[in-house]
Amino acid sequence: MLSPPPIEPASIGPLQPLGPAPSREAPPPPPQGFHFLQRRVRPERSRGFGLSSGGGMSSSPSWPEGGRILAWGAGAGALLAGLLALAFSRFLLDAFRRWKVLKPVPGINPCYPLLGNALLFEKQGEAFFQQLMKYSEQFRNIPLYKLWVGPIPFLILYHADTVEVILSSSKYIEKPYLYKFLHPWLGTGLLTSTGDKWRSRRKMLTPTFHFAILLDFLDVMNEQASILVQKLEKHVDKEPFDCFLYITLCALDIICETAMGKNIGAQNNKDSEYVRAVYRMSDLIHHRQKSPWLWSDFIYSICQEGRDHSKNLKILHTFTDSVIAEKAQQLKNQEHKSDVIINGEQSKTKGRRAFLDMLLSTTDENGKKMSYLDIREEVDTFMFEGHDTTAAAMNWVIYLLGSYPEVQRNVHKELDEVFGDSDRPITMDDLKQLRYLESVIKESLRLFPSVPLFARTFTEEVHIKGFKIPQGTDCIIVPYALHRDPDVFPEPEEFRPERFFPENSNGRNPYAYVPFSAGPRNCIGQRFAQIEEKTILATILRRFQIETKQKRDELYPVGELILRPNRGIWIQLKRRSSSNF
Ligand code: HEM
Repeated sequence: MLSPPPIEPASIGPLQPLGPAPSREAPPPPPQGFHFLQRRVRPERSRGFGLSSGGGMSSSPSWPEGGRILAWGAGAGALLAGLLALAFSRFLLDAFRRWKVLKPVPGINPCYPLLGNALLFEKQGEAFFQQLMKYSEQFRNIPLYKLWVGPIPFLILYHADTVEVILSSSKYIEKPYLYKFLHPWLGTGLLTSTGDKWRSRRKMLTPTFHFAILLDFLDVMNEQASILVQKLEKHVDKEPFDCFLYITLCALDIICETAMGKNIGAQNNKDSEYVRAVYRMSDLIHHRQKSPWLWSDFIYSICQEGRDHSKNLKILHTFTDSVIAEKAQQLKNQEHKSDVIINGEQSKTKGRRAFLDMLLSTTDENGKKMSYLDIREEVDTFMFEGHDTTAAAMNWVIYLLGSYPEVQRNVHKELDEVFGDSDRPITMDDLKQLRYLESVIKESLRLFPSVPLFARTFTEEVHIKGFKIPQGTDCIIVPYALHRDPDVFPEPEEFRPERFFPENSNGRNPYAYVPFSAGPRNCIGQRFAQIEEKTILATILRRFQIETKQKRDELYPVGELILRPNRGIWIQLKRRSSSNF
């Protein structure tokens, strides 16, 4: 179990040093404090100093008792101070021990005791992300480096051979403290759990991503893709527009229908309460992660942001709860009716399966079914992991194709070969044939990995490239920097899908390219994501030609939970001359 780093609220957060900490940490305003004291202290006083007490402890003036109370108060205060000092000195000793052990690991200067590198950090997410990437470039020829965020060290990994040490091992599956802020929403589902719970869940959930099931989901993807292109129609031959939200809502509709079997029609109704809550929650979580003064549950619960969090949490859980209950009831009804034959046909409604249907019937190795709460954790996890990631990835592909017309021409050529003039829905067979598009998607995830960094905690001491790393240290794996290693990907900033042609990628270290992580704790939704990306992008590109005037340095990528272009993706659409639509 990870224990919370005992960082002081006023100290520096991982992403946003200083800032409004003092105001958020300020004691309660005077009137409240006054009432509090009134309620607690007054009765004591009347007992201690009162001439008579209804309680009848003593009818004589009680200075000695007052003195005793004062003495107890002083004693309790001293004890508390002593305990705090003890905890703090243990913390200091621990920090000092780590500092000493990690001294040989290259790091950034200046680095101060307790503050670490925090004074150097940019406050804005966008600038901070650029800064991290700049450090990784400066340390390119060194196997790893460390950053001290306040008193907490983070090991930064961006070379295939160091990343391999972590990802290939089944020992390093623990997630760091910062993932804790996902728990209120996602519980300890697949993404956030660890140890035996994670192992058992992973075993139970792997079959739900089986090819045959993904085949069912292709219908949903085709349907939502065709709604998307209808929405995009109004921009054809018009001014540049930001396509980010269009793509994101489409991905959201897909995950809602495939995970829960619920069509929320986000593409037609951006204002759905659930949709708003999903986005607000992601923002709140990310903000909390980078604001140590909001880490305490108590403090969070009493501040405005914490209350907003509770409100949105309720919306999200109420929605998932009701969908689960509805599905469970449907399943029961179907069991009852399964023997009843109406008009010669079984009455069982042959609906599409969603992940939720499978979760309701799956069992662990002991034949035990998942509880509603277990199921909610996983459905919420799929909702969280399963749409922003694919939406960002598709947006980056659209941007890159708009910037590289010759690559787009190759994609169009391939699509024409597979589909000709037909506007039929896409099949799995078609997807298999879209090999060039696949390389385009891979190369795009190399340059713009949807998850630009992810982390692990070492539950035991480890040696990496001769450096001793103490137990409890967190490491951050940075695909964004890893994928730019010029020894593996020459001229790394160039967009070259042919890097992923089999003849060019055979023999490459598999840990040099990990947009979906790798090893035992890799992304369970990888195949789902690839099918979705191909289907949506192919549908758009069968119909439109994409142009963009946005330059790379106008993208302002920001690596929050997901790598996003901070100012959107601005494109123009032209109808394809060969298109029949
Ligand atoms: C382009 C799309 C996607 C990318 C780039 C991506 C990337 C990743 C990465 C890097 C991780 C490891 C995170 C960590 O260790 O902290 C991960 C884990 C995970 N992803 Fe994805 N993901 C994508 C799509 C999806 C989809 C569509 C789903 C579900 C439908 C999904 C579900 C999950 C889950 C449940 C985990 C946790 C797995 C575990 O720890 O066992 N992802 N993903």
